[in-house]
Amino acid sequence: MITLENINKTYKTKKTTVNALKDINLKIESGDVFGIIGYSGAGKSTLVRCINLLEKPDSGKVIVNDIDLNTLATKDLRKSRQKIGMIFQHFNLMNSRNVFSNVAYPLKGKGFSKDEIKDKVSKLLDIVGIKEKAYVYPSQLSGGQKQRVGIARALANDPEVLLCDEATSALDPQNTSAILNLLKDINKKLNLTIVIITHQMEVIKDICNRVAVMESGEIVEVGSTIDIFSSPKANITKEFISSTMHSDKINDVLESEQFNKIKDGSQLTIKISYIGENTTQAFISKISIKYGVLANILFGNIEFIQGVSFGNLIVRLNGEEKSINDAVEFLKKSNINVEVIENA
Ligand SMILES: Nc1ncnc2c1ncn2[C@@H]1O[C@H](COP(=O)(O)OP(=O)(O)OP(=O)(O)O)[C@@H](O)[C@H]1O
Ligand SMILES: [Mg+2]
Repeated sequence: MITLENINKTYKTKKTTVNALKDINLKIESGDVFGIIGYSGAGKSTLVRCINLLEKPDSGKVIVNDIDLNTLATKDLRKSRQKIGMIFQHFNLMNSRNVFSNVAYPLKGKGFSKDEIKDKVSKLLDIVGIKEKAYVYPSQLSGGQKQRVGIARALANDPEVLLCDEATSALDPQNTSAILNLLKDINKKLNLTIVIITHQMEVIKDICNRVAVMESGEIVEVGSTIDIFSSPKANITKEFISSTMHSDKINDVLESEQFNKIKDGSQLTIKISYIGENTTQAFISKISIKYGVLANILFGNIEFIQGVSFGNLIVRLNGEEKSINDAVEFLKKSNINVEVIENA
């Protein structure tokens, strides 16, 4: 659907040169909700603006639906661009026009009759759930409602791709979740490919099936959301994940006095993580019963990502050394990832 090949983009000002994109290669498939995450200045907006050539790369190819956009004449490029809608953090609505008129704007001058436009706008407002606000002005809308207008306007040309640049960053958690649900909905209903820029792993976790992590103009990691969450490779990815999974709290737990108290016999503290069907709690009861070790959960976090459960637990085992070792072996054999944190 979208292929970026060896994209480079440099911004030159009088004093500085910024290599905003360095040899970017990326594939986004039709129907993906594709997330791009990175800190401020990583190059996310530049990358996404290259997809519709709002930003022209210095080199490299932008291929959308098998068409190399760079080879198109102005008129054809305009046509191709219409198949790529975009929404923004600050909505970019026209304040002097009401909701209807904002959404109708992209349809102007395209040979539609008044009735056709009315029909189309009404359908779009219905899809985004603000039909009753058609004749209201943007200043009278909440942030979430404004973004719904932004989405309706972006859908006016029946795009195949929707680019979202920090589309929920200006919204409170409730509106963020509502807009993400709406995006999820239109991805399915309209078979719309969605590219989402964010600096929140929560957003990725919520709706993206694939994700690319950007740092200093480069893509440092790319993969399915569940793979990225379960085995992040790059340090920056680990940082993003640990903040959403609250695994930074693990250290607090481990440092707490309770942890340092050693009971009779051996003590082993392990981190266990699993993906999918494993019901870990059952395994913890099993090792207690089977090997007679005392298993104490110090920290636990279970998430659902793309419908798959993904858990991280810190468990302290107390008992005979051999029993503990046997219990760990049993866990490993059961496809549970075990990492020893402290052995005492
Ligand atoms: N028009 C421009 N002129 C000069 N430098 C620019 C321009 N646009 C972006 N840059 C620089 O390019 C780099 C990438 O910017 P970009 O806006 O793509 O980052 P971003 O990841 O979207 O950041 P944010 O999360 O803050 O939106 C930054 O260092 C930025 O300062
Ligand atoms: Mg940006």
